[in-house]
Amino acid sequence: MKTVWVNEKAARELKRGALHVYAQNVLRADANAGDWVEIKHGRETLGMGFYNPKSAIALRLFTWGEEAPEDVLARRIEEAARWKGKLYGDTYRWVFAEGDLLPGLVVDRFGDVAVVKNQCLGLERYLGFVAEELRKYGVDHVYLKGKGAGRKREGLPPVEKWLVGRIGEYVVINEGNARFYVDVVGGQKTGFYLDQRENRTELERHICPGDKVLDVFASTGGFGIHAAVAGGEVTFVELGRAASRMIRRNLELNGVDGKVITADALKTMEKLERKGKRYDVVVLDPPALAKGGGDVEDAKKMYFRINMAGIKLLKEGGLLVTCSCSHPITPKDFVGIVRGAAEKTGRRIQMLGSLRGQAPDHSVYLPQPETLYLKCMFARVE
Ligand SMILES: C[S@@+](CC[C@H](N)C(=O)[O-])C[C@H]1O[C@@H](n2cnc3c(N)ncnc32)[C@H](O)[C@@H]1O
Repeated sequence: MKTVWVNEKAARELKRGALHVYAQNVLRADANAGDWVEIKHGRETLGMGFYNPKSAIALRLFTWGEEAPEDVLARRIEEAARWKGKLYGDTYRWVFAEGDLLPGLVVDRFGDVAVVKNQCLGLERYLGFVAEELRKYGVDHVYLKGKGAGRKREGLPPVEKWLVGRIGEYVVINEGNARFYVDVVGGQKTGFYLDQRENRTELERHICPGDKVLDVFASTGGFGIHAAVAGGEVTFVELGRAASRMIRRNLELNGVDGKVITADALKTMEKLERKGKRYDVVVLDPPALAKGGGDVEDAKKMYFRINMAGIKLLKEGGLLVTCSCSHPITPKDFVGIVRGAAEKTGRRIQMLGSLRGQAPDHSVYLPQPETLYLKCMFARVE
């Protein structure tokens, strides 16, 4: 058995449920990069996982028992399919990496198509096995996708390929009263932001026919399409050309109209404000502006500016739907930022219900606090 010994600090953290051991807490390794190893503190076995001495996260724990990686993968995939299928039928985030105790692995399911992303060196050679497991639950096509910095940090090359089957066109999914095309190959991330599902369907309840809605950072139109289906007159703002084209396709798919502005969000909002445009609803869903490390203060300033710009565009009593998917920005930080932005623009703000978060299939594993990342606030602005 390959073995890696960790120090007292790492042992304490693993016993609390953490899944990561940082490189500085590894004492000795009788293993090579990518090996499935027993993790030990002295004579005590703490669990098993993958080892990568070249990564800042040198060990990723997958199980506290003595198991082969195939057994752990098969078991967790089966468990997740069972409970997530109950909630969502055949479209859900099947594996949310650390959130589902499979560090580094993400799987989104869109009917009979699954998209896999991997950021764990040792797991890479088991992806064929993962794809075969997914097939047991009615998946016929599995696409492997990954270009990000996370793979680079693990020493993994960029990858884009079909592992099983292949589809030539987009998948169509249902979400509440709306339908969406998902471009698993060309789209952002896995092709669709499933994490905002409940927040998007919630928006429908707040829309009256004829409401003027501005969906900023729209991606393929998620929030705005729901608003349009509920009778809103929607303007979408999105920087990406491919995403903007997909908004138009999604409008058509749902038999509704809308205006798409392909441009920078902040500049567009400032321009609309100068022109005197005002909206009943403004949705702000920027990409992750802080990813950890030293960028948190700059990100807070940017969220502040974005929220100020959005609030200024709201009519009296308008609805602000504002989000942050940056895990280093805590829910408390985020509420403070939105409150500050309202104060600075001289508007009064009321949060409607509690602060919302990610969809439940993006499970939050409490010992790995970064798995809680999405904040979404519905607020009324006087
Ligand atoms: C988190 S996604 C939005 C997801 C979307 N609300 C949904 O429900 O599917 C953020 C989007 O912002 C876009 N974006 C990034 N920077 C931008 C900018 N400066 N101006 C406008 N859009 C931008 C990205 O292309 C991406 O589609």
